[in-house]
Amino acid sequence: MSASDDLVGRFRALWNEIAPVGRDGRTGGYLRYALTEPELHLRAWFRDQAGRRDMPVTDDGNGNLFAWWGDPEAGDAVLTGSHFDSVPHGGAYDGPLGIVSAFLAVDALRAAGVAPVRPLVVAAFVEEEGARFGVPCLGSRLLTGELALERAAGLRDSAGVSFAEALGARPAGAQPELLGRFSAFVELHVEQGRALVETGAPVAVASAIWPHGRWRFDFLGEGNHAGTTRMADRHDPMLTYAFTVLAANKEARLRGAHATMGRVTVEPNATNAIPSRVTGWLDARAAEPETLAGLVAAVHGKAVERAHRDGTEVTLAEESATPLVAFDGGLADRLARLLDAPVLPTGAGHDAGVLAGYLPTAMLFVRNPTGISHSPSEWATDADCAAGVRALARVLQELACA
Ligand code: GLV
Ligand code: MN
Ligand code: MN
Ligand code: MN
Repeated sequence: MSASDDLVGRFRALWNEIAPVGRDGRTGGYLRYALTEPELHLRAWFRDQAGRRDMPVTDDGNGNLFAWWGDPEAGDAVLTGSHFDSVPHGGAYDGPLGIVSAFLAVDALRAAGVAPVRPLVVAAFVEEEGARFGVPCLGSRLLTGELALERAAGLRDSAGVSFAEALGARPAGAQPELLGRFSAFVELHVEQGRALVETGAPVAVASAIWPHGRWRFDFLGEGNHAGTTRMADRHDPMLTYAFTVLAANKEARLRGAHATMGRVTVEPNATNAIPSRVTGWLDARAAEPETLAGLVAAVHGKAVERAHRDGTEVTLAEESATPLVAFDGGLADRLARLLDAPVLPTGAGHDAGVLAGYLPTAMLFVRNPTGISHSPSEWATDADCAAGVRALARVLQELACA
């Protein structure tokens, strides 16, 4: 068996350990919400894997875990890793691939007799997707201090459980001293598009993350009887909502931007009642901040106009906003040369996007033959995952061992 077949086998063996965790039998997608049973299981698995590699684990008081190859008190550490949590019925790879690959890259370096001259740290960030508490990259935003503690303390899941309750403690917030010990972060991630299928390369280096955010629209109307209320007498917020969904799609297309309204709640949510309230969330992303701001303003304007017609009310609240992230150009070029890999932008958010504001940060993308993500169809072949591990090991060798 060749060394590369062996790595494919080792990838599959480690991957199989986590593949069933949190998988929904009906959709084949994952329900790995932050700090719920499946994700806690994966966090325990992380500690176990670190233990097997003699890597002591620390946490930052915010739910982020760090496994250290080298002295946790030393500076200049090179950080890699990703997250375990998923979107509802998400794919297997978004997040966990970066953590599994990081442990395998450590193994590959050790097998090659390479030792880091500065600590090499594998991280598991908490609540990257924001699927439980609504704010994406919650862990990295707390670590960096980008998210105020009062805001984090007020975050609750759909069952009313607060982030502090789920964590078992009030989050510690910004950890500048810990952050200062890291000299670089590299997050490996499954590609969430088809660029690598088109270029024919298994691995790419990221150049930038589009600015993006989440906005909550509350549409208020008058709940009433579906059978007895004349059509002309209705104040139906579902109509305003439906119009807003179409407007978001149209306004995004006009600008070459992306808009999605993939989440909605309805009160009272009865077949035979006109709703009293509809809440719909807009996820909007664009290559430039001005385009994004223009898109959100235009969608809001259309919603207000339509609310006037429907006799409803609409309010808009920003739930999260992530500015344009340009990854360290020098580092991206260096890694692209090292790996002979293409350089690509992405519309997806990542903890790497948050940390990029604080330390030199890079991302590696592994080819996804379906191009689909945030869905059970998300995929990467074992051979490409092994190529990702090899690429990450080379990068870590370059950054931590020279
Ligand atoms: C996170 O994956 C996001 O970009 O929504
Ligand atoms: Mn994701
Ligand atoms: Mn991810
Ligand atoms: Mn993400």
